[in-house]
Amino acid sequence: MTGWLEKAGVQLPIVQAGMGGGLAGHGLAAVVAEAGGLGTIGFLAPADLRKEIAGFRARTSKPLAVNLLLPLARRAHFQAAAEADVLVTFWGRPRRGNVRGTAGALELLARIRQALPRGYPVMSAGGIAEPADARQRLDAGADAVVCGTRFVMTHESGAHPAYKQRLVDAQETILTELFGAGWPAPHRVVPNEATRRWLSSDPRGPAWLRAFHRATAPLLSRVPVPMQLRLAATQSPDRPLFGPAAATAGGPANLLEAGPLYAGECVSRISDIRPAAELVRELTGQAV
Ligand SMILES: Cc1cc2nc3c(=O)[nH]c(=O)nc-3n(C[C@H](O)[C@H](O)[C@H](O)COP(=O)(O)O)c2cc1C
Repeated sequence: MTGWLEKAGVQLPIVQAGMGGGLAGHGLAAVVAEAGGLGTIGFLAPADLRKEIAGFRARTSKPLAVNLLLPLARRAHFQAAAEADVLVTFWGRPRRGNVRGTAGALELLARIRQALPRGYPVMSAGGIAEPADARQRLDAGADAVVCGTRFVMTHESGAHPAYKQRLVDAQETILTELFGAGWPAPHRVVPNEATRRWLSSDPRGPAWLRAFHRATAPLLSRVPVPMQLRLAATQSPDRPLFGPAAATAGGPANLLEAGPLYAGECVSRISDIRPAAELVRELTGQAV
């Protein structure tokens, strides 16, 4: 495993991705950290970020990462995130998109290793569902692997229980821009009522809606997170103003049908909801 992770006190080459809006809170991050991986708290309002970091510190003395979405982050986010040990930034500009790469993860890894100086730490993300996936990336030269979808499907993730079950049942994903109010970027989701209603002719969403998202993004991306969540509670599958907030446990249940059920393509290879600690050990070849 890479030197800097080891130096930071992370024993196993596995990173739980930061997933914003309460999907990856301190409960998940602390369990991952205690099991030897690097746990990450996802993007939240600054005050909530502080609370989550404090919650993590109360549970473990292991290192913690925080993920900031740079296009949305303000000074108070950086001040809160300064309390973490590792800062992971999402650089993508909303207009250009999150899911924009076309190269497969292994090819990308090879290209990046070639472009960077020898010994430069590289982590590989995307499509890691099973131990063999992680092994393949590590053998190909990744210093650690980053998993998102697999960790949403754990007991400890903050996803709404019905969202987790939808992922268990999912066979397909859609790359869309439907849920782009305030964040007009492609995102991958599993189908729900909103996608069935609005994506019949174009998986990206109606052209007029995408144009509307692009035009209103500078304004909507400045709406504070708590207000965005209040707006999200009013979303309905038949009213096409869909923001990026996902259904969390304790959050508005309307988001199951009127919000994004984010998942990577590997969701079709995952058929259970597991304890996160077990996954950390299993994915890295330790006895469970
Ligand atoms: C539900 C979900 C939410 C995500 N939220 C974020 C986020 O807030 N910030 C970020 O940088 N990446 C986010 N990602 C992307 C992950 O960081 C990671 O790159 C990706 O999940 C890896 O692919 P995988 O899902 O196939 O493991 C999210 C991914 C998922 C599945």
